[in-house]
Amino acid sequence: VEFVYKEHKIYNGKPKLEGLPATYVESGDEAQTLELVLEDTSINTRIVLLYTIYEAFPVIARSVRFECDSDEKITLLSAMSACVDLPDKDYEMIDLAGVWARERHVRRHKLDYGIQSIYSMRGCSSYQFNPFLALARENADEFQGQVYGFSLVYSGNFLAQTEVDNYDTARVLMGIHPNGFKWTLGKGESFQTPEMVMVYSEAGLNGMSQTFHKLYRTRLARGTWRDKVRPILINSWEAFYFDFDAPKLLGLADAAADLGMELFVLDDGWFGKRDNDWCALGDWEVNEEKIKGGLPALAERIHGLGLKFGLWVEPEMISEDSDLYREYPDWALKIPGRAMNRSRHQLNLDITRKEVRDHIMNQIFKVLDACKADYVKWDMNRSVDNVFSAALPKERQGEVYHRYVLAVYEMMESLVQRYPNLLFESCSGGGGRFDAGMLYYSPQIWCSDNTDAIDRLKIQYGTSFGYPVSAMGAHVSVCPNHQSGRITPFETRGTVASSGTFGYELDLMKMSEEDKKTAREQILKYKEIEHLVQSGDYYRLINPFENNNHVLWQFVSKDKKETVVCGVRLHSEANPYIYLFYPQGLDADLHYEDIATGKVYTGAALMKAGLPLPLTTGDYQPIRFTFKAVEK
Ligand code: GLA
Repeated sequence: VEFVYKEHKIYNGKPKLEGLPATYVESGDEAQTLELVLEDTSINTRIVLLYTIYEAFPVIARSVRFECDSDEKITLLSAMSACVDLPDKDYEMIDLAGVWARERHVRRHKLDYGIQSIYSMRGCSSYQFNPFLALARENADEFQGQVYGFSLVYSGNFLAQTEVDNYDTARVLMGIHPNGFKWTLGKGESFQTPEMVMVYSEAGLNGMSQTFHKLYRTRLARGTWRDKVRPILINSWEAFYFDFDAPKLLGLADAAADLGMELFVLDDGWFGKRDNDWCALGDWEVNEEKIKGGLPALAERIHGLGLKFGLWVEPEMISEDSDLYREYPDWALKIPGRAMNRSRHQLNLDITRKEVRDHIMNQIFKVLDACKADYVKWDMNRSVDNVFSAALPKERQGEVYHRYVLAVYEMMESLVQRYPNLLFESCSGGGGRFDAGMLYYSPQIWCSDNTDAIDRLKIQYGTSFGYPVSAMGAHVSVCPNHQSGRITPFETRGTVASSGTFGYELDLMKMSEEDKKTAREQILKYKEIEHLVQSGDYYRLINPFENNNHVLWQFVSKDKKETVVCGVRLHSEANPYIYLFYPQGLDADLHYEDIATGKVYTGAALMKAGLPLPLTTGDYQPIRFTFKAVEK
């Protein structure tokens, strides 16, 4: 192909991207967009490059639209979102890698000749890599230095790569993974790529992350809950798994209300014959054997306790042992003549088909209407596989992965449009689809199935590179922890979980009186910082991947008059060293009172001279300092 410049225009505002999540503006003067049109006359096809710059953020949002005007069909084999050339290669690439229960661990490696790439070919953004990468100058750290951050607003297969050529220039390429992608356009048709968001920072990695946080929190996330402090929730999953009935649920709700929690989430197991994870996905009707009297009655009782009521669903999936599968076996994605690949015993529904989407969403809407749900947790417990849609001809199967993602977006859009006041949390077997695309629909995402407070330090630290803490679902769970077997103090679990969208996920009725007392205090303490978690500036202070002794992070209010430093002292030492910490982002001239001791320091003293960490004994001890500006 040979696309050459044809024309361009510049206008105020930012256009919506058809069917895709994207950053947006609330008024035209917030941003300007450049549309650059290139044309290849021999195939009568245009490429429209869209660039948006924001007045308030050091950001470029970029996407591409292919427009076919040819009588002959054209086929896209690759349609990337952005390609950025940097004139030298003196950067380190930072990306987020992992697996289930160990999501978004930070890796940093030098750029070198050739290609370094991260990607997903699992149909979702995946645990393995996140659609995010940063290029940091070698001397850049959390607090200073030049950093570029790149984030793809997309939840499916992606490729993000850097390529260094032999003249030492570096190229960043990001977009839908070309493997398994093949999209045919006829005359008058167009293809819109997802958006890539590029951030520039001269204030190190924290500077980059803070831009992503503010932009994604306020101009990607949407809806009533975007700017609101989220309710403290109790989730039934680790409390009961599949083993519950209405009295047990009500007992849990009662205890939750008594401790000061605000939202009851009924997780997996409430529908069909769902007594284990082998069956019933697709049968979105209440299991009356477990919940006698039905969901509306249960929800009413829970509402009566002063709690909001929320429900878990997994709309994209089907179990072979389900009424839905028995009726519509061809509604699952499956490749004719091939054995099916199952994961968690389940199959993906072919949601590229409208009748499938409509059937599922209508069932779910019926349930949500009947129980007046305030919250939904939308899960996705396997990656997309057996990729073949019975509804598309053989030569168009290369469209299925992307059509699947578009279908997810359409279903989610129908949910948020129908219930504007619903709090929506997405999830994918923990954090298997924690990406910017999801944030457009759900302002919070379950961060990981690993609820171990110590493992969470790394997961939440890594996640904060590209995503706001207000998006990170984080819960206090029981000890020994169900995933790691580790035992940590209840207070430490609270410190870590309360640095995200806070909740509990354990059988409250089995809690000791002492833990109940701690939980009550914890909830009150969270109330003191919830506005900072929701909209404060977040700083990573001490990196859990580099420091084995302690981990620290900090919230600062917009007016800089309030700050909270939180962390965990990992290992106890006899006759320990003195460790200093240095709060960030304060007003050097203001005076701040340490609320615990009453001592007053200037902002400059705190930031430059630092303060010693407390001398605690015992492993995994919580750390928390609160400073408030006072008159001199
Ligand atoms: C996934 C989620 C969990 C829980 C289970 C239920 O693993 O991440 O939080 O909802 O599914 O099956």
